[in-house]
Amino acid sequence: MYAQLVKSEGTSREEMSPEEIAFQERIDRNEKIEPKEWMPEGYRKTLIRQIGQHAHSEIVGQLPEGNWITRAPTLERKQILLAKVQDEAGHGLYLYCAAETLGVSRDELLERLHSGDMKYSSIFNYPTLTWADMGAVGWLVDGAAIMNQVPLQRTSYGPYSRAMIRICKEESFHQRQGYAIMMKMANGTPAQKKMAQDALNRLWYPSLMMFGPSDKDSVHSAQSMAWKIKMNTNDELRQKFVDQTVPQAEYLGLTVPDPDLKWNEEKGGYDFTEPDWDEFYQVLKGNGPCNKERLGARVKAWEDGAWYREAMTAHAKKKAARRSAVAAE
Ligand code: ACO
Repeated sequence: MYAQLVKSEGTSREEMSPEEIAFQERIDRNEKIEPKEWMPEGYRKTLIRQIGQHAHSEIVGQLPEGNWITRAPTLERKQILLAKVQDEAGHGLYLYCAAETLGVSRDELLERLHSGDMKYSSIFNYPTLTWADMGAVGWLVDGAAIMNQVPLQRTSYGPYSRAMIRICKEESFHQRQGYAIMMKMANGTPAQKKMAQDALNRLWYPSLMMFGPSDKDSVHSAQSMAWKIKMNTNDELRQKFVDQTVPQAEYLGLTVPDPDLKWNEEKGGYDFTEPDWDEFYQVLKGNGPCNKERLGARVKAWEDGAWYREAMTAHAKKKAARRSAVAAE
């Protein structure tokens, strides 16, 4: 286990303090770390970055689907989509709460999102152009999210791990509703099937990018895995996702847009084409198709809500003043 004792700055075990060694030993015994317990500053910062980014993704992730609520083809589909988008808001809130236990305020996290200092998942910078995209988002995007988040149920930080347990239950409903839409479209009229294929064509590679850069370019994986903040590497999860999803595409009668996709008997998985990493980094820099629109919508929502936050704060202050006046009597 001591092989795992690596610090983010690359210092060796010999350079670790006794607290850091004791902390790593707790991680190695799969003990959960709870909010008020001692933790290295790097562990706290990594969690704030990852949980904050995850929370932002849930919140920004409402936008591409929210865009379709008024245009869902039936009342039932509208109800399902509305429930799903509300779930995503709830996921964002649990995750902001988990981040707050690390000593960061929600206002600060939002400020950092709005200023572009903190990221959200690259996938939400792609547009949702047709109803079939609602199917593909549920099937592929929520499918990729589950692949990443099921192992995070075992992550070392207690509040994050517990939030993940609830979130994963809801995500599996999201994935299934997406696949149900794809089944309907793929088995519908030729125009509907074409729409389903087009959605798969556009969302396949952006979904593969959700797992992050390839392992050789992943900055945080080694330290995050040593601390069991992350349980798998980016490439491991991407491979599992491809292996799980290709048969589902075949069942739909759709073609994964990768001419080099091939089952590799020896490795027991598919060989597949990597996403275009230049595109990925462009999206991260703010140059994706919808970055400005997405961030603009979040900043506008924040500004539009200012009067409500101010009213709630004034009300809370008044109540507190009344309580202390009564207590002083
Ligand atoms: N979108 C945006 N940024 C990304 C993405 C992505 N898909 N993948 C990696 N990055 C960023 C990382 O945040 C990091 O940048 P930073 O140092 O400025 O924060 C950089 O690219 C390098 O990547 P890694 O070193 O591999 O980063 P990390 O170890 O954090 O791994 C991962 C990235 C896999 C996304 C991890 O943070 C994670 O598991 N997060 C929790 C799950 C999550 O956020 N899911 C959102 C999905 S959508 C949803 O659930 C609704």
